[in-house]
Amino acid sequence: MKINADFNERVVLSTQELPWQDSPMPGVQRRMLDRDGDEVARATSLVKYAPGSSFSAHTHGGGEEFFVLEGTFSDEQGDYGAGTYVRNPVGSSHTPFSKTGATIFVKLWQMDPEDDKQVTHDTSKTHWFPGLVKGLSVLPLHNHGTENVALVKWEPGTKFQTHKHWGGEEIFVIEGTFADEQGVYPQGTWLRNPSGSIHTPFSEEGCTIYVKTGHLS
Ligand SMILES: [Fe+2]
Ligand SMILES: [Fe+2]
Repeated sequence: MKINADFNERVVLSTQELPWQDSPMPGVQRRMLDRDGDEVARATSLVKYAPGSSFSAHTHGGGEEFFVLEGTFSDEQGDYGAGTYVRNPVGSSHTPFSKTGATIFVKLWQMDPEDDKQVTHDTSKTHWFPGLVKGLSVLPLHNHGTENVALVKWEPGTKFQTHKHWGGEEIFVIEGTFADEQGVYPQGTWLRNPSGSIHTPFSEEGCTIYVKTGHLS
């Protein structure tokens, strides 16, 4: 199966309009954003756990990265509330579940095996740093090699400089509305700009976005 599998293409998805598709586990559904492969796939998805649902024990052959958007997601290591960012490196394993229900943004099979750091970051409790322009705050989540992951908060009316994406850029709009000269991207929009693309982003109403750069070469 291939969905938005060509990293040279620009993709903009209003994820709320995508169907929830059943996974092999009862009560666990997903919206596929990009995918190259079948059940074992390099994939970016939104995954929704119904209250009381669980997934079978599995090993992350290519690593797993997720951000909890809603509810509380859990595994045998702990509970991850909305706003928690987790990286489970190549070779890690767990048995996830959700008692009260949860929706997470997940990237599978995209991790460098040398990027072996387990990360659990509750972004509701950490410090934001000033960004490059007034009105912008940054919460760094991870970097390894050319890959960089952060949350970026835009105060209403913030405008960023024109810039080029070496290695591409991927954005998920967590809250508010993000924009650039090519469009307006409300909450739930997933955006992938290929390596070498250029834009001048801004936010009229303010927003918080997940941003990963440098991973699409
Ligand atoms: Fe997992
Ligand atoms: Fe950008």
